[in-house]
Amino acid sequence: MEVKTSLLDNMIGVGDMVLLEPLNEDSFIMNLRNRFDHNEIYTYIGSVVISMNPYRSLPIYTPQKVEEYRNRNFYELSPHIYALADEAYRSLRDQDKDQCILITGESGAGKTEASKLVMSYVAAVCGKGQEVNKVKEQLLQSNPVLEAFGNAKTMRNDNSSRFGKYMDIEFDFKGDPLGGVISNYLLEKSRVCKQPRGERNFHIFYQLLSGASDDTLMKLKLDRDFSKYNYLSLDSANVNGLDDAASFRTVRNAMQIVGFMEAEVQSVLELVAAVLKLGNIEFKPESRVNGFDESRVKDKNDLKEMCELLGIEQSVLERAFSYRTVEAKMEKMSTTLNVAQAYYARDALAKNLYSRLFSWLVTRINESIKAQAKTRHKVMGVLDIYGFEIFEEGDNSFEQFIINYCNEKLQQIFIELTLREEQEEYIREDIEWTNIEYFNNAVICDLIENNQNGILAMLDEECLRPGTVTDDTFLDKLNTICAEHQHFESRLNKNSKFLTDHSLPHSCFRIQHYAGKVLYRVEGFVDKNNDLLYRDLSQAMYKATHSLMRQLFPEGNPAKVNLKRPPTAGFQFKASVGVLMKNLQTKNPNYIRCIKPNDKKVAHIFTDSLVCHQVRYLGLVENVRVRRAGYAFRQPYESCLERYKMLCKKTWPHWRGPARDGVEVLLTDCSVPTEEFAYGRSKIFIRNPRTLFTLEERRRACLEDLATLIQKIYRGWKSRTHFLLLKKSQVVVAAWYRRYAQQNKYQKIKSATLVMQSFIRGWKARNILRQLKYEKRCKEAVTTIAAYWHGTQARRELRRLKEEARRKHAVAIIWAYWLGLQVRREYRKFFRANAGKKIYDFTIQRIMQKYFLGLKTTTMSPMDNSWPAKPYGFLEGAHTQLRRIFHLWRCKKYRGQFTEEKKAVYEEKLEASEIFKDKKALYPSSVSQPFKGDYLEIQKNPKYQKLNSAMEEKVLLADLVNKINRANGKGSPRLFLLTKSNFVLADQKTGQVKASVPLPDLASVSVSTQSDGFFALKLKEGSASASKGDFLLSSEHLIEIITKLHRIGTTAADRDQINIDISDEFLVQFKQDKVCVKFIQGGPKNGNSAACKRKNNRLLEVSVPSP
Ligand SMILES: Nc1ncnc2c1ncn2[C@@H]1O[C@H](COP(=O)(O)OP(=O)(O)OP(=O)(O)O)[C@@H](O)[C@H]1O
Ligand SMILES: [Mg+2]
Repeated sequence: MEVKTSLLDNMIGVGDMVLLEPLNEDSFIMNLRNRFDHNEIYTYIGSVVISMNPYRSLPIYTPQKVEEYRNRNFYELSPHIYALADEAYRSLRDQDKDQCILITGESGAGKTEASKLVMSYVAAVCGKGQEVNKVKEQLLQSNPVLEAFGNAKTMRNDNSSRFGKYMDIEFDFKGDPLGGVISNYLLEKSRVCKQPRGERNFHIFYQLLSGASDDTLMKLKLDRDFSKYNYLSLDSANVNGLDDAASFRTVRNAMQIVGFMEAEVQSVLELVAAVLKLGNIEFKPESRVNGFDESRVKDKNDLKEMCELLGIEQSVLERAFSYRTVEAKMEKMSTTLNVAQAYYARDALAKNLYSRLFSWLVTRINESIKAQAKTRHKVMGVLDIYGFEIFEEGDNSFEQFIINYCNEKLQQIFIELTLREEQEEYIREDIEWTNIEYFNNAVICDLIENNQNGILAMLDEECLRPGTVTDDTFLDKLNTICAEHQHFESRLNKNSKFLTDHSLPHSCFRIQHYAGKVLYRVEGFVDKNNDLLYRDLSQAMYKATHSLMRQLFPEGNPAKVNLKRPPTAGFQFKASVGVLMKNLQTKNPNYIRCIKPNDKKVAHIFTDSLVCHQVRYLGLVENVRVRRAGYAFRQPYESCLERYKMLCKKTWPHWRGPARDGVEVLLTDCSVPTEEFAYGRSKIFIRNPRTLFTLEERRRACLEDLATLIQKIYRGWKSRTHFLLLKKSQVVVAAWYRRYAQQNKYQKIKSATLVMQSFIRGWKARNILRQLKYEKRCKEAVTTIAAYWHGTQARRELRRLKEEARRKHAVAIIWAYWLGLQVRREYRKFFRANAGKKIYDFTIQRIMQKYFLGLKTTTMSPMDNSWPAKPYGFLEGAHTQLRRIFHLWRCKKYRGQFTEEKKAVYEEKLEASEIFKDKKALYPSSVSQPFKGDYLEIQKNPKYQKLNSAMEEKVLLADLVNKINRANGKGSPRLFLLTKSNFVLADQKTGQVKASVPLPDLASVSVSTQSDGFFALKLKEGSASASKGDFLLSSEHLIEIITKLHRIGTTAADRDQINIDISDEFLVQFKQDKVCVKFIQGGPKNGNSAACKRKNNRLLEVSVPSP
């Protein structure tokens, strides 16, 4: 169960000052102190949050805390700024009321921190999503950018906002942020040129110099050393706890997130650098003839660098610091500036440049964060404006006057909205009410802003007045006009009261603000209000090539010369404050009153007097009184009834009568004590917040019940509908299923029937088949039996017939023999005794005759091997002999046809066969080749004519041979010629005879058994030719050459037969040495020819390819 908490739980002091008892200033401060000491920095006055600055970080802003305060009632938990932010956000989202959060307090009281806390809380609880998160991030990141340029370290606050800021955050109907608009109010630009002791210039200058990279600084022509810049105060350049370099990175990152382009960031930094440079420009007087001094720039280096940065012509700016053009009624006059005026002009330019840059930044941020959607927005405004400021010793100037005026106006609106409005409402609503006295500061506002005789109006008048105008003339004017005003004090006042008041110097006036008396030094009021920038300077700036610079000084455009004076600073401020007030009045205000516990900016110190002062001028005690006297909550009857009608049966769900009666019935029914509420004319007033909570609590419980009821009905309806749907579906499903099941069943029966049918049919058919087969077999058996029977009978018959035939044959033979016998017996007497032999011879003769005649068909070709088969076994021997004889005869016949030449050829062939057959493997291939003899056609070929004529005898053989060289086994071609008496070797090309060997000198020829063409012609030892050595030759016509050599040997009577030696290894006599020639088979196959290779000195190896 959820644990109900309340503001009252674990309370330190009282969380809501409304509950303070007794109520007076002391107890009020005691309560604040008590809570502050216990780290309770927030306290309520009704719906107003008082925030004490703890000056240290407390663990109360964690995401868990955000969750804790989310969607909780304002008074449910202990006071917290988150409760106020949540309340504002929810009424914006749920009740469609625009909200504003007004944060007031002195400088350093924690306004800026509070505004950031509110923004971060809203960002944490509102919608999420990519787009929404981007918007949130941009809104949040606008803070560091504006703080860098608009905040500075002051005596009161290390991060003091030197401008007023009002930010409208826009939401859509769901409460998701869409964008925002920021308005800025009066930047304290005097700080750019001069800072009070112990204070700094705006953060950005220090951040840029500490945090920018060397490269960036070089581009900006800056030096990291603060002391080089006149505009930077040195005594407090470094602030404890502030890391300028890290802040610079944060600012650059934030600018990027907000949507600044890199070029824009660069432009901004260039302008910041330009301001620093401007501060370093110094002037010296130069006397003129007319006796006046004219200013001149002392050291032109800074001027030059600044001009380079901004793209301004140096001479133009230099002139603008020395002369001033005054235009009046179409006339232009140029006057010289003295040194003081030049410094004034320089500072005015710096201030204007910086403040315009700041306004441009705000406009640029607005451009980025503006809501895109055009639909109506809900708006939450957060106002963080500079706090009330009082400097000691009357150092307050125009800026403080303006700031305090603004605070005066805020107090006014607070009074209007809380105190006066409240009281007036009671009166309007006719509620009994005892008037509470409170101080209304309208009169002070009037003193300042009255259009006729207000201080601002008079200052403007004085500024515009012709003639000599000084701050003193302005003070005089004040003294005359405001003398009677009870809140205005001056020494020169006619009112004698202050004549002797030494705390009030002559050059000052004092205003009794609601927050206390403030002494203003009048010096500089006129100048600051005029905010004058010489036109020459703005025109010089407009001439810059730096585009942002040109944008900032549009009035410098010569085409748009406007002789009208620009509105004064005071006038502008008054107008913008007026707009702001109007804006705030349309919204539901939420107040955060910030209080500063001490002046030392340290934690744990609570200075009673300081707090008391703030409590007093903020009118907080009166605020509590009003709350206590009045009613905490009011609401029109209609909305009250609408909101709580569910708490009573009579008003729920509809009340038909008037709303007021309805509310009465409702409250009575709810038994709310009568003193807790009052009926106004149109509203019901509830005295105590707790009563409201009770109602809210009951409403919530009731809503839960209602929700349960709605849920119940909805669930019932949903379940019923679901059930009906299920039922309907079930019927459909069942129908479909049944159909399906029946179909299935039918299909099964059908197929079963078919199966049965087929079985029965099969069975029947098989029966019939069996029957038929039986019948068929019976028929076949009958046929077989019949066949067998017939067979048996036929065989019997055949046997009988054969028997009969044999018998008949035997009878015939017997008969023949018997007949023969009878014939021989009868004719024996007629034949000789040797007739038998003659018959036999005759018969044999007859047979032989027939046999020979049969042989006649055989052809005469010796190649024909055919021979008729032998007709009778007894002729076997004769038959073979006859065949041989016939063949020999046939061959002889064939030979008989040969001519002498052909015979010689065949003889040669025969001789070759005798020499080589079965001895040399080359032989079979030569059988079919005719021996041509003259392969070179030596007689006809003119090439060999000389050689031919050299030959004495008939050339029997002429051929090309290879002569094998002993040295390497290679062959060289030679012509080989053979005659009856010698053989000749001649050169192939020239036909010149190389060797001519008489055949008788030839002893033998050696060849191998293999298919090669190598042969050695060995010479007889001691012969005339032998000196040259044997010849080892190779020829394609080896068989023919050797045969011819052999044949010449056999035919020649005068010499020996030539030996032919056939072996695979023989010796050849080369000149002195004998070399062995060895033939091996299966040598490397390079073509078909044998290859000869020299193995060593004594061995030539011829490898012959295997056949
Ligand atoms: N809630 C807080 N928790 C912790 N520190 C705080 C808180 N509020 C303020 N401070 C501290 O006080 C300092 C001053 O606060 P802040 O800048 O908000 O004052 P301010 O009211 O805006 O002053 P000014 O009017 O000069 O701008 C902060 O820098 C911070 O150190
Ligand atoms: Mg601030």
